[in-house]
Amino acid sequence: MRVLILIAFLACACWEAARAAKLVPGKAFDRLITIWLENQDYAKVVLEPSIADLKRSGILLTRFYAHTHPSQPNYLAAIGGDYWGNDHDEMIHIPENVSTVVDLLDYRNISWAGYFEDMPGPGYMGNYSDGQTGNGGWDYVRKHNPFVSYESIIMEGERLLALDSFRAFQRAFKEKEVPQFVFMTPNMMNDGHNTSNKFAADWAHKFLQPLLDPKAFDEKTLIMLTYDESEDYSQPNHIVTLLLGSAIPPALKGTEDSTFYTHYSLLSTLQNNWILPNLGRYDVGANVFRFVAEASGYTKNKEPANAASVNNSISYPGLLHTEPVKRLGIPVPNDRLIGAGGLPILDSIKKKWSSAIKKGEETPYDGSGNVYDGDNPPVYSPPRAN
Ligand SMILES: *[C@@H]1O[C@H](CO)[C@@H](O)[C@H](O)[C@H]1NC(C)=O
Ligand SMILES: *[C@@H]1O[C@H](CO)[C@@H](O)[C@H](O)[C@H]1NC(C)=O
Ligand SMILES: *[C@@H]1O[C@H](CO)[C@@H](O)[C@H](O)[C@H]1NC(C)=O
Ligand SMILES: *[C@@H]1O[C@H](CO)[C@@H](O)[C@H](O)[C@H]1NC(C)=O
Ligand SMILES: *[C@@H]1O[C@H](CO)[C@@H](O)[C@H](O)[C@H]1NC(C)=O
Repeated sequence: MRVLILIAFLACACWEAARAAKLVPGKAFDRLITIWLENQDYAKVVLEPSIADLKRSGILLTRFYAHTHPSQPNYLAAIGGDYWGNDHDEMIHIPENVSTVVDLLDYRNISWAGYFEDMPGPGYMGNYSDGQTGNGGWDYVRKHNPFVSYESIIMEGERLLALDSFRAFQRAFKEKEVPQFVFMTPNMMNDGHNTSNKFAADWAHKFLQPLLDPKAFDEKTLIMLTYDESEDYSQPNHIVTLLLGSAIPPALKGTEDSTFYTHYSLLSTLQNNWILPNLGRYDVGANVFRFVAEASGYTKNKEPANAASVNNSISYPGLLHTEPVKRLGIPVPNDRLIGAGGLPILDSIKKKWSSAIKKGEETPYDGSGNVYDGDNPPVYSPPRAN
């Protein structure tokens, strides 16, 4: 028994070491860290001195739009390529046959983690937790951690354990072991949810200083500071996203990029940078961050044909809609699409959905990059190549 345990331990240690040692280089960056703040309008955020100061060393994306309200669906979208009609912040479960960015990264052995401030321990699946501010359940919240709502993530122990607190991030940062893809949500005070625009901007400025030190990372690192949604529900969901870090080409520091982006652009940018397969959902057709597209020679960015008509304030129908009449099944992914990595859908997704694919079920995913909301719901049609 002891020998077995020892062998298991050694095998495990070697595996970890091999995994840590092998960095997968990307076309424009070798690491992406995305940090999410809450509920602020573009027009107000750009006036914050802390944001204006950060902008001097980065690229401001001037036309970045969230998908709907409230928070949760926007977080879900960024890692899953759809928000499944979600229009609330209650605890949800997305079936195991739905894949995410995690499947794409694991396929290429690219290390990843989610860090959530005041999460009480790795893999915590509760709805909320009281943390350092002692505000009674307003520190860590599940609705700002999309990973735990996907069964395809939580049903695998190793994946669940990759979700941890900011303390785990600080340890990894000190040891120079920060994974290659990192998703971070500060607590409800620091992210501005229960404080103010200025509070969150000042927090981000301070938090980012050590990460922006030229010696912070040995590899080209892109830091994407973003907001989940706007504050004003009556306006199209226009938010600030700032690209920072050592991956920003020096000539682009302090510039603006006016390409149309949404939270799906995170997925298409990762696919483009690391030549990843796609999810067969709204990830395909979403614009790739321009400086990344330029580094990789990607030329398919375009303005969505229907951009002007979409308001992104209410959710379209789907599995997680509160109104029973707006509840639909999970759409079949489109296996004919080629994504920004130049590759088709991930093979394991195609296998999982093979029965629905064989039946030729209609799908809303056409790779067009068009955007949808409750007033302009997705149009389902037979699967076609993009
Ligand atoms: C879970 O927390 C969210 C706020 O983060 C709240 O809206 C929701 O009602 C809570 N659900 C339960 C079952 O406690
Ligand atoms: C990922 O790692 C596994 C285990 O070491 C290996 O079998 C597989 O070929 C690797 N995949 C890629 C795409 O490098
Ligand atoms: C945080 O904001 C919510 C409303 O979104 C409110 O119900 C709650 O009382 C606030 N908590 C604190 C500690 O400010
Ligand atoms: C956007 O949608 C919301 C919710 O339906 C509505 O209140 C608002 O008036 C709309 N705004 C525009 C500019 O259409
Ligand atoms: C995906 O899983 C859900 C929930 O278990 C199930 O209802 C659905 O039929 C599955 N879809 C396919 C194509 O297997």
